[in-house]
Amino acid sequence: MDLRLEVPRKLLGLLAGPGRYRVAYGGRGSAKSWSFARILLADAMGRRMRILCARELQLSIQESVHKLLCEQIQTMGLDGFFDAQKTTIKGRNGSEFIFSGIKSDPNKIKSMEGVDVCWVEEAAKVSAESWETLIPTIRKPGSEIWVTFNPESEDDPTFRRFIVNPPPDAKVLKINWEDNPWFPNELRAEKDYLYRVDPEAAAHVWGGETRRITNSQVLRGRFRIEFFEPGEDWDGPYFGSDWGFAVDPTTLVKIWAKGRSLYVEHEAYGIGVEIDQTPALFDTVPGAREHACRADSARPETISYMRRNGYPHMVAAAKGAGSVEDGVEHLRSYEEIIIHPRCTHTAQEARLWSYRTDRLSGDVLPVLLDKHNHCWDAIRYALEPISRTGGAMGYLEYIQRLNATGVQA
Ligand SMILES: Nc1ncnc2c1ncn2[C@@H]1O[C@H](COP(=O)(O)OP(=O)(O)OP(=O)(O)O)[C@@H](O)[C@H]1O
Ligand SMILES: [Mg+2]
Repeated sequence: MDLRLEVPRKLLGLLAGPGRYRVAYGGRGSAKSWSFARILLADAMGRRMRILCARELQLSIQESVHKLLCEQIQTMGLDGFFDAQKTTIKGRNGSEFIFSGIKSDPNKIKSMEGVDVCWVEEAAKVSAESWETLIPTIRKPGSEIWVTFNPESEDDPTFRRFIVNPPPDAKVLKINWEDNPWFPNELRAEKDYLYRVDPEAAAHVWGGETRRITNSQVLRGRFRIEFFEPGEDWDGPYFGSDWGFAVDPTTLVKIWAKGRSLYVEHEAYGIGVEIDQTPALFDTVPGAREHACRADSARPETISYMRRNGYPHMVAAAKGAGSVEDGVEHLRSYEEIIIHPRCTHTAQEARLWSYRTDRLSGDVLPVLLDKHNHCWDAIRYALEPISRTGGAMGYLEYIQRLNATGVQA
């Protein structure tokens, strides 16, 4: 069979010749995941291989590259050759893909035999301990370790190990969106937007630079990104929404609370969304129409429109004086905030939402920057009824406000 392998030209150098480690790192949307998946599938067709797809945490197969590989098998037309099973993928020649979390199941990793290639995807947060578990396991003669990631901090063990002090037998390549001939238009718009509003953040997200300032993060040390299913006994869901238009996004979030933990389960996010497109945007979040949703009170006419167009339970958030600081305090009062990986904008904002730092001293100032806060504004509104100082505006008060602005409720 003649297989045309389409990957960015720049990656070819990384693949040529022998190498114990092949590392591709860089900004979002640079075709790292697709390319590695395609190359491994092609390799596994060429000879009988055992490929371990590893990551730091993998509590379920959904968190692995299993789905990505299955999709590539479909688009490459290889479903006659590969048989995608629930937790493995098998080739007609005996090749096999297996999936595992290093930290989640170190004993399974240690007992793994005969791996030809181990692909560590999303490797930015793989711990030093996990690398020490993994590397000696990949011991078959000629075996290789492939690594892909978006760099976070210069101090991360993965960044130190492969970028700051790469081993002599490592091939390392930085790859960005410019190198991806199939860079999608949706991502291009997001990239341009971020370069416009916050070039420093864009250099990190799209330019693949490490994040510089860390101690100015509003949610520093509080959040992590992880799969979860809401439990029966959780409080919520709570919905909140923030209005934007030309520059800022319109957002909707669905969140839950359980004890001292806060969970962000779904988000809707769109820039330049017209008012009549907003119900459709919000409909992407399950249950949004049926629940109370607290929205930015600065746009009573938008709230009124939504109430008349499928969102009868939408109310204005009270948003009193000092509410931003109170809201931040409430957010930080949780022991942990867990963001579902599908909420990519909420996760990105969690990393970027910051206090101002003094240009000369580098000190963090007690001034919140009005950037990267749109999903978190929605979360603050959603939390109003359960935060200490909050309390959504009663419907009567809301109607009075609407009347004052001359809008029909
Ligand atoms: N060979 C290809 N053919 C067609 N489209 C492609 C190909 N490779 C990549 N793309 C497009 O580029 C997009 C980004 O690719 P991919 O998800 O692999 O990037 P990435 O570097 O892994 O991004 P991230 O850092 O966000 O994980 C894909 O969603 C797809 O639309
Ligand atoms: Mg990727």
